[in-house]
Amino acid sequence: MAILKVAQMGHPVLRTRAQAIDRRDIKSPKIQRLIDDMIETMHEYHGIGLAAPQVHEGLRLFLAVVEEGDERETVLRPLAVVNPDIKISGETVEDWEGCLSVANIRGRVPRSRDVRLRGFDRHGEPIDVKLRDYPARVVQHEYDHLDGVLFLDRMTSMETLTFLDEYGKYWARDRED
Ligand code: NI
Repeated sequence: MAILKVAQMGHPVLRTRAQAIDRRDIKSPKIQRLIDDMIETMHEYHGIGLAAPQVHEGLRLFLAVVEEGDERETVLRPLAVVNPDIKISGETVEDWEGCLSVANIRGRVPRSRDVRLRGFDRHGEPIDVKLRDYPARVVQHEYDHLDGVLFLDRMTSMETLTFLDEYGKYWARDRED
């Protein structure tokens, strides 16, 4: 496994629509290694999601950390999603977002509260899950990366655009969980 270099805002790969992965290629060593490397990269930089274009691969694949389990015990697991499709619904809610490709910046972004996520997992098996609140936000953020969209594009006002230091000083209490 390897820690990959994360593309920073301004790199054209972040503004390019990513290509679908042939379902027969999901189990190939190339895609499996890419998923492993993306997981390692996401953990190294304390991300909660990572899309393939962020590691210079123009493919429709992302990781999103989702909660799994029941009421007694939940675990956070990075879910790899190939060729995702999302359907958003519910009210629009605003919350803070950041991005490993937009280093040290935070801003408040309106997103739909609910999302239905479909696609394929790393074994090529279909995924069909409904997510709400923060996991739904992460999925919408990562999905945007596949279409060359950054969270800044989704902000309706730049007033909350905040450097990480100032976010920690003045705003982090908003999002302690
Ligand atoms: Ni991002």
